[in-house]
Amino acid sequence: MTIRWKYLIILAVLAPILGLGVAWSGLISVRASTGHWAATDWFLHWVMRNSVSTASMSVDPPPLDNPAFVPAAAGHFESGCATCHGSPAQGRNDAVLSMLPPPPDLKAVVPTWTDAQLFEIVKHGVRFTGMPAWPVQTRDDEVWAMVAFLRKLPEMDGKAYIAASGLHGMGTAGEVSPLPITCESCHAEAKLNNGSIIPRLAGQSETYLLESLKAYHDNRRPSGIMGVAVGTLPEESLPELARYYASQQSPKRDMPPKDQALVERGRQLAEKGRSADKIPVCLSCHDKGGANPAYPKLSGQNAAYLKQQLDLFRGAVRGGTSSSHLMVNAAKYLQDDDIDALSAFFSQR
Ligand code: HEC
Ligand code: HEC
Ligand code: HEC
Repeated sequence: MTIRWKYLIILAVLAPILGLGVAWSGLISVRASTGHWAATDWFLHWVMRNSVSTASMSVDPPPLDNPAFVPAAAGHFESGCATCHGSPAQGRNDAVLSMLPPPPDLKAVVPTWTDAQLFEIVKHGVRFTGMPAWPVQTRDDEVWAMVAFLRKLPEMDGKAYIAASGLHGMGTAGEVSPLPITCESCHAEAKLNNGSIIPRLAGQSETYLLESLKAYHDNRRPSGIMGVAVGTLPEESLPELARYYASQQSPKRDMPPKDQALVERGRQLAEKGRSADKIPVCLSCHDKGGANPAYPKLSGQNAAYLKQQLDLFRGAVRGGTSSSHLMVNAAKYLQDDDIDALSAFFSQR
């Protein structure tokens, strides 16, 4: 008995030393060119699937059948994901196909995952594979928008995809551009409607637009989508973009008939506030003559965008300009139905 214990102890000491020795010798290959053995490949994917299933057990998906999610996510997919996974507008190139593991064609694999599992993968990425995490970990709404888009991807042909993502320059030879997603892919006035989570920029003050672009650029206003769109632009180009959008006209839209009682509730709250609940008068800062140019215009903005931003302010998730704390205070005590009413009111104003 004592002898067996002795062997076990010697083995326990020797095994790690031997392991370290093999690692030190350089005999373990890190070459991607040789690929994995089939058994290793199967094992790694088995581990990944199990890990994603377990981690997604506590994830509760919101309703995803919302057309507002698709354009914002499709544009981001083309600039942030298609480089690796390909898209209906571009195949995977040989460089990414030589990655180990190669990024799969998502059209084929998306149906094998549930919504909660896709959320888990897109939010946190996959370690040791090159699959990146979502650049902003503090907000989930953008990740859900991406999951909603991924659900639509398998049935999208090139035409539907180009329409959703706003790709440019995919026409004739010579027009193909290496950076086909531009600001207009997402923000073109003609693409937006009241249900969009992408904001209208036309008619917003230059000061506010510039401060917001700087806030995205420096990660003070968290957004994976806008972070990727402006993160690599030189800071000197931002004033020109702000000037461009500030000089655009924002035509009044023909609005579909609204729930008038809801709009009226929104008006009451915007004009009078509710002091018992510490809700200030919105119109004391926004959309009045001589308003501070750092305070954004809300009238005519998309209702879905207003709703989403009020929700982010209420949860103190949205940062922004040096005045954004004012808005975090203003939104702190709003109820869900207040947010619905205010968004309806301002969008049709
Ligand atoms: C740098 C390359 C790269 C980028 C950029 C990238 N991915 Fe991936 N992705 C990968 C790799 C590699 C895998 C792992 C494949 C594997 O496990 O076999 C992966 C896996 C996935 C999977 C799981 C698919 C499966 O069945 O294995 C999904 C879903 C996914 N990516 C979505 C996205 C989305 C959405 C984006 C953009 C927000 C994105 N990826 C950006 C490389 C990338
Ligand atoms: C892939 C789609 C996409 C692209 C490309 C894109 N945007 Fe955006 N943009 C969005 C979304 C979505 C938001 C809302 C983000 C948030 O929740 O903060 C936004 C927000 C903004 C805002 C804040 C407006 C406000 O009222 O606070 C500005 C300013 C802006 N974008 C300008 C630009 C400019 C300039 C470019 C080009 C360099 C650009 N965007 C490219 C989707 C996009
Ligand atoms: C004390 C002044 C003040 C009051 C009162 C105020 N806001 Fe704001 N609001 C701001 C400022 C400043 C911003 C810009 C924050 C930033 O820097 O991003 C803002 C931003 C917003 C935005 C985001 C707009 C966009 O384009 O992204 C919405 C929506 C909004 N406010 C709605 C409201 C509503 C609804 C109320 C009333 C309940 C209200 N605000 C009350 C100052 C105020």
